[in-house]
Amino acid sequence: MQVYDNPKYYEIAFSFRDISKEVDFIEQVIAKESRIPVKSFLEIASGNSPHIKELCKRGYSYVGLELSKQMTEYSREIIKKSVLPAEIVEGDMIKFSLPQSVDCALLFLGSFYIKSDDELHSHLDSVANAVRSGGLYILDGAVSFYPEDIRKQSWEMVEGNVKVVTTYDPKWIDRDNKISEAKITLDVNDNGEKKKIEHLEIRRIYSINEFIKKAQETDKWEYIDSFSDFDVSKKPYDEGRNIVVLRRK
Ligand SMILES: C[S@@+](CC[C@H](N)C(=O)[O-])C[C@H]1O[C@@H](n2cnc3c(N)ncnc32)[C@H](O)[C@@H]1O
Repeated sequence: MQVYDNPKYYEIAFSFRDISKEVDFIEQVIAKESRIPVKSFLEIASGNSPHIKELCKRGYSYVGLELSKQMTEYSREIIKKSVLPAEIVEGDMIKFSLPQSVDCALLFLGSFYIKSDDELHSHLDSVANAVRSGGLYILDGAVSFYPEDIRKQSWEMVEGNVKVVTTYDPKWIDRDNKISEAKITLDVNDNGEKKKIEHLEIRRIYSINEFIKKAQETDKWEYIDSFSDFDVSKKPYDEGRNIVVLRRK
C-alpha cells in the first residue's frame, strides 16, 4: 500500500502546516518579485491540495498537477463539494502541458521527483511553458542548502480517533551521482485498527548552486531569492523549510 494512495492518512500526517501563513508568504513574495499580477496558480505534485481552499477563498483560481489517481479523485471531490474555481490535471511533473497558462507555479514539501539532469531540464521546460512571462515558480523543500539536509525525521499527528506516526528515512544509494532513496512509513491507528503504509521515493538531490545553474541554463528562468519557513525575513538555515524562488523570463 502506497502512502499517496491514502489521501486521508496523508492529510493527517502532513497537517502540521499553517496553510494561511504559507499563503501569506506566497502573496508577499509575489507582491515583491512577480512582474505580472497573479490570478491563477499551478500546484505541481498537488496531492490532496492542502492550499486549494485558502487560495480560492482569496480569489485565485487553481490547477493541480498530480500523478496518483487516488489523490486526484480526492482533490476533485473537494473541488466539487466546495464549488471551487479549480481543476486537477493528471500528469507527470517531468513532462506535462496545461490547456491554459497560469501566473504562478508552486511546489510544496519537497515534492520534487526528479532523478537526473535530463528530467530536471524537461521539468523546468514544462513549468516554463505553463507559467506566463514574469511569473514566479516558488519551491518549498526542493533543493538542498546544506549537505546535512538528508536526515531521518519522525512525528505524530492525531485527528479524532485516528493517529498517524510518520517516519521519513532517507539514505544515499549512489552518493557520487547524488541519488537518494527515502522510505516513508505511516504507522496508523484508525479507531483501534492498526495499519502500516510505506513506500520508497528515489530522487536526485540538487544543491542550491547546482539548481540555480541548471535553471539558468534553460534560458527560461532567472533565480530571484531564497527564504525559510515561509517567512520573507528569514534566510535558509540548516533544518529550515527552505524555499527557492525563480522567475519566468
Ligand atoms: C509529498 S506529496 C505533496 C502533496 C501536496 N502538494 C502537499 O503539499 O501536501 C507529493 C505528491 O506528489 C505526487 N507525485 C509523485 N511523483 C509525481 C510526479 N512525477 N508527477 C506529479 N506528481 C507526483 C504524489 O502522488 C503525491 O501526491
